[in-house]
Amino acid sequence: MASGRIPQDFIDDLLLRVDIVEVINARVPLKKKGKDYAACCPFHNEKSASFYVRQDQQYYNCFGCEAGGSALSFLMEYEHLDYVEAIESLADSLGIQVPREKGVKGPSQEQQKRTKDLFNLMDEANDFYQIQLKASSKAIDYLKGRELSGDISKRFNIGYAPDGFNHFYQPFLKQYSEQQLVDSGLVIRKDEDPKNSKVYDRYRDRIMFPIRNRKGQVIGFGGRVLSKDTHQAKYINSPETTLFHKGSELYGLYEARKFTQKLERIVVVEGYMDVIALAQFDVSYAVATLGTATTPTHIKQLFRAVPEVIFCFDGDRAGREAAWRALNNALPEIQDGKEIRFLFLPDGEDPDTQIRKIGKTQFEESFTDDALSLTDYFVETLHQQNNISSGEGKARFHEDAIKYLKNIPDTFIKDQLVSRLSALIGVNTRAFLKGATQKEISNRTAQNTSRIGNREVRHTPIRYAISLLLSNPDLVKFVDNIEPIALSHLPGSDLLATLIEAIQEKPQTNAAVLMERWKNTEYEAPLIQLMKWQPETEDSEVLANEFKDCIKYIHKRTNEQNVESLIHKERTDGLSEQERKQLVFLLQQK
Ligand code: UTP
Ligand code: MN
Repeated sequence: MASGRIPQDFIDDLLLRVDIVEVINARVPLKKKGKDYAACCPFHNEKSASFYVRQDQQYYNCFGCEAGGSALSFLMEYEHLDYVEAIESLADSLGIQVPREKGVKGPSQEQQKRTKDLFNLMDEANDFYQIQLKASSKAIDYLKGRELSGDISKRFNIGYAPDGFNHFYQPFLKQYSEQQLVDSGLVIRKDEDPKNSKVYDRYRDRIMFPIRNRKGQVIGFGGRVLSKDTHQAKYINSPETTLFHKGSELYGLYEARKFTQKLERIVVVEGYMDVIALAQFDVSYAVATLGTATTPTHIKQLFRAVPEVIFCFDGDRAGREAAWRALNNALPEIQDGKEIRFLFLPDGEDPDTQIRKIGKTQFEESFTDDALSLTDYFVETLHQQNNISSGEGKARFHEDAIKYLKNIPDTFIKDQLVSRLSALIGVNTRAFLKGATQKEISNRTAQNTSRIGNREVRHTPIRYAISLLLSNPDLVKFVDNIEPIALSHLPGSDLLATLIEAIQEKPQTNAAVLMERWKNTEYEAPLIQLMKWQPETEDSEVLANEFKDCIKYIHKRTNEQNVESLIHKERTDGLSEQERKQLVFLLQQK
């Protein structure tokens, strides 16, 4: 495993050396067309070729869909690689090594070996528990009592941890150190001090469910008690280890991928037994969170795998609360073309009992007949939480709604939500959202004043653009797209965006009118400062060029900032499909 950051120079150089025609032609056969190359677009269905590759520009684009970019972005899209993987693949094809900057260390060889040993240990533990199951009539009887078939138990590699404190760790000590066993989470050390301490098995007299990662490697276990009456926890899950992170794993995802012919949707349920029972009834595409709420990381993973996710919860209060939490965590991940639905089971049922009662067909029908769309569920719940018969109730409803809406990316789904929500309280969407923008402005200005409002105001391009606009509002016609400015984190960009919007709304304006508009707001002080910078020339062509340069600079810096933060996020939290697309898009702008 390589480590360290890849130098930007190397990436720039790589893109100069590689030939995009070769890269694409190896994957999608191209036909020469004039000086370009063409093919049927691999990113959407089509009969005639509208996918073009230009050798001189080292750029591809499709006239039938939005695909387009460099060799790097082609690989990211076509082979579902992340940024670093795509660079490695390109470098490989040229037979060169990807250099890494020193200083940022990745896992050492020793760490890598430790991880490998731990994976082996988990794998052997998995075998061990399965062998123990075969030898335990008590455990077999339990599974029979739960009406699990032998086939399905094998598919999920269900095992049994025998009763006693040393059945597991003692034989394993022959091959692994005590520390390794403790690190696996399967063995507990009684005392902090490793020198004079004893260890014992974490799982005793429990049915064992191995939890696998994306590649199918066992990274943890869930263990269920057999008896009903006990005062012990019904389930014990692996603690956090170097391999196992509860908040980012989904039980059954590996099996769902492996055993579903064409994975098009996923049902998210609450328990191990639910996943397994559904699979036994041929609903092989269920996964479970591991005793935690559904996290944004979970949602990202799900959306990477399928376009449709159905959350299935018990109809009781706990189930409703879990569903609302799941919805909240899903909001930032909302994408057009990806669907989330919520299915509530009748009180007292979980998917395990329900599918045994109604069978596969009816269970699957309930996904369409009974499940609520995210929009319906969101609007209905918000409505239930606020009594909107009074004016105050409506205001609270509005305030609440805005709070949630702020977390949702701009999508058609969001637009739909806005129109549903505003209709409920009888205002038009403009009025509904106007409150939001004002609120956001008032949230942000405090920072702004301190940045721009002080005495030593430097001539940054943003500030210069603002002062140019104030003196010549018609320069606004050179702004094609306000979005990059509005979404930029550069200091002052929100003020610039607000100003541009105001002028676009009322092109016949002047500085006085504009200044009046922000009188007594936090924007007033910075604007007064900036008004003092009168341009040195009146030549409209010069001014236009200066303004255009400012806007260009802002786009470029914002792009760079976004790329940096997305690449950073990719390496730490991972990216959602939408963020990945955005990264691909931004890299194309370079
Ligand atoms: P449930 O109590 O709904 O269990 O917990 P279940 O899946 O229906 O199991 P059976 O049918 O009684 O065997 C749902 C999930 O919550 C976590 C587990 O991941 C479980 O599958 N859980 C539950 C725990 O982590 N610890 C517990 O003590 C209980
Ligand atoms: Mn159950």
